[in-house]
Amino acid sequence: MPITPQPQWPRLASSTKLQRDQLHVWAVPISGPLLETDQQILSADEQTRAARFRLDRVRQHFITARANLRLILSTYLDIDPAAIRFVYDELGKPALDSSICSDGLFFNLAHSGELALVAVTYDCEVGIDVEHLRPVRHAEGITRRFFHPDEAADVLACQGKERVEAFFRCWTRKEAVVKAIGKGLQFPLSQFRVPVKSDTPEWLSLPQHALQDASPSTTQMWLQTFVPCDHYVGAVATRGVKRAAVFRSLEV
Ligand SMILES: CC(C)(COP(=O)(O)OP(=O)(O)OC[C@H]1O[C@@H](n2cnc3c(N)ncnc32)[C@H](O)[C@@H]1OP(=O)(O)O)[C@@H](O)C(=O)NCCC(=O)NCCS
Repeated sequence: MPITPQPQWPRLASSTKLQRDQLHVWAVPISGPLLETDQQILSADEQTRAARFRLDRVRQHFITARANLRLILSTYLDIDPAAIRFVYDELGKPALDSSICSDGLFFNLAHSGELALVAVTYDCEVGIDVEHLRPVRHAEGITRRFFHPDEAADVLACQGKERVEAFFRCWTRKEAVVKAIGKGLQFPLSQFRVPVKSDTPEWLSLPQHALQDASPSTTQMWLQTFVPCDHYVGAVATRGVKRAAVFRSLEV
C-alpha cells in the first residue's frame, strides 16, 4: 500500500509563499510508478548517476526524489524545473547555482524507504533527514560507537520496538545536523549530543574544533523533529538561526 504523508500537511496546490523566517518541509512519496516526465526533467549528470544504480527500485527512488526536488524548487524560483542547475561542494552537498538563484534560497533533500523529504529556507544552511523505522543489524554496536555516551544510554535503556524508534530518532537528528553543515558522516558524531526522548525544538552546540571553518556564533544549530508519516521519523536543522517549520506534501 502506498504511504501517505500526514493528512494535515497541505498539498502542493496550496501557496508556496515562504516567509524569510520560515522553513518549509515537504514530504514526497517516491515509490509510485516511474514517470517519463520525471526522467526528462533531470540534467544529463543526474541521468548518468541514475543509470549507475543497479537496483531498479533504488534508481526509481533517486529519479523520483530528484524530479520532485526540482518541481518543489521551481515553485519558489518561478522557473521551469528542468532549467534548475545544481552545484556541489567537495563533500557532495547540492546547492542552487548562483545563475539560477541569487536571493539566498537554501535546500536539502533526504530519502529513506518510500519517502523523500525536502527542506527549503532562506539565508541559512539547512540539513534534513528521514528514516524508515526498521530493525537494524548491529544497532547496539553502532549506538556505542557513533552516538554520544548520553544518547547511547538513552537508546540502550529501551527494548524491542522502542529501541528501534529511539535509535532512529537519535540517528535522524544527528544526521540532519551534520547535513546542515555539509560534512555528513565525516563529522565526529559522538562529539555532540541531540535529544533522544524529547521532541521539543532546541538549540544544540557543536564542538568548535570539529567544525574547523566556523566562527563561534555558527556552532549553534536549531533542531526540530517530526513524524512525516506512520513508521517514519524526521528531523531538520538550521545553522545559527531559528526557523519555524511549516509542513507540506506532494502527491506523486
Ligand atoms: C550526506 C550523507 C550523510 C547522506 O547520507 P544518506 O543517509 O545516504 O542519504 P540521505 O537520504 O540522508 O541524503 C541524501 C541526499 O543528501 C544530499 N547530500 C549529499 N551530500 C551531502 C552533504 N555532504 N551534506 C548534506 N547533504 C548532502 C543529496 O541531495 C542526497 O540526495 P541525492 O544525491 O539522492 O540527491 C552521506 O552521503 C555523507 O556523509 N556524505 C559526506 C561525504 C562522504 O562521506 N561521502 C562518502 C559517503 S560513503
